[in-house]
This record gives sequence, structure tokens and C-alpha cells, in this order.
Amino acid sequence: MIREVITYPNKLLRTKSEDVVEFNEELHTLLDDMYETMLDHNGVGLAAIQVAIPLNILIINLPNEEDVQDKEDLIEAINPVITHKDGEQVFTEGCLSVPGFSEDITRANHIVVEYFNRFGEKQTMECEGFLSVAWQHEMEHLTGHLFIENLSIIKRKKFEKEWKKNHKNKN
Ligand code: CO
Repeated sequence: MIREVITYPNKLLRTKSEDVVEFNEELHTLLDDMYETMLDHNGVGLAAIQVAIPLNILIINLPNEEDVQDKEDLIEAINPVITHKDGEQVFTEGCLSVPGFSEDITRANHIVVEYFNRFGEKQTMECEGFLSVAWQHEMEHLTGHLFIENLSIIKRKKFEKEWKKNHKNKN
């Protein structure tokens, strides 16, 4: 089932998510719904809080070398923790909760993440580049933050101004 993606400035996006305790059918349904919702919105990542569920869950599905978003590459991460970060990279990011806006963000290049899959099995992943950006972006959602909070004050002000202008008649 496709769920509604909540968008900035919805205060729910500022919720600090909590750990999943039970790896049950309800969790699997949520993960399936998140996947459907992400594809429907042409996204490559989604955190549970973006569908208004404050749990430490995120999914990532980046296109492969043939530019195909293969479900075989889908990452489903429950209770993820970044255990190591180093290096630096700048990547142009966007977010389904901040539609129509993208901007360069500086993040670590190389990370190691520990998480659980949908069956409660512990996983470790080491990555860099786009995948590492996606992880760090989605992890930020779980702490109640958005990528736009990483912008410089000048860029943030510009964003707020444009956002208000574009959404004046929509609320
Ligand atoms: Co996002």
C-alpha cells in the first residue's frame, strides 16, 4: 500500500525515532509499504518517519550501473547505527519530504553501518560514495533532522524564501 509522504515543515519530521523491538508481520508490511511508496515517488531512499511512523527504519535502493533500480539491491535497515565515518565528499541531495529542492551537502565519504534486516539478523555494511550519502541522509531523518539543516545560513535563507513563495497557495 502506498502511504502518504509527509513534507517540510510538518513537525512530525522532527521526531526522534525509536528502535524496533519486534520483527513481526507488522514490520514487514511497513517495509513493503515503504518500498512501494518510495518507488511511487521516484525516490532512492525513505525513512519510516517520512510516512509518519517514528521508528528506526530506513530503506535504500540505488540504481545499478545500468541505471536500473533493481529490487535485488534493496537495503532494508532496522535500528541502524553508523559505527565509523571518515573522509569527505560533496553530493547534490534531494528529499521526498522537501520536494523540488536539491542542494550540495558535505558528508563523510566512507562509513561502516551496523543494522538488522527484517528478520532481526545483524548486518554490517561498509560503503562510500552515493551509497554512503544515502545512508547518512536517511539516518539523519531518524534523529529528526533534514538535509536542509546542513546548508549554510545564506543557502538556508534562500531555500526558506523560495519554499514560502512556491507553497504560498498550497496550505
Ligand atoms: Co530525505
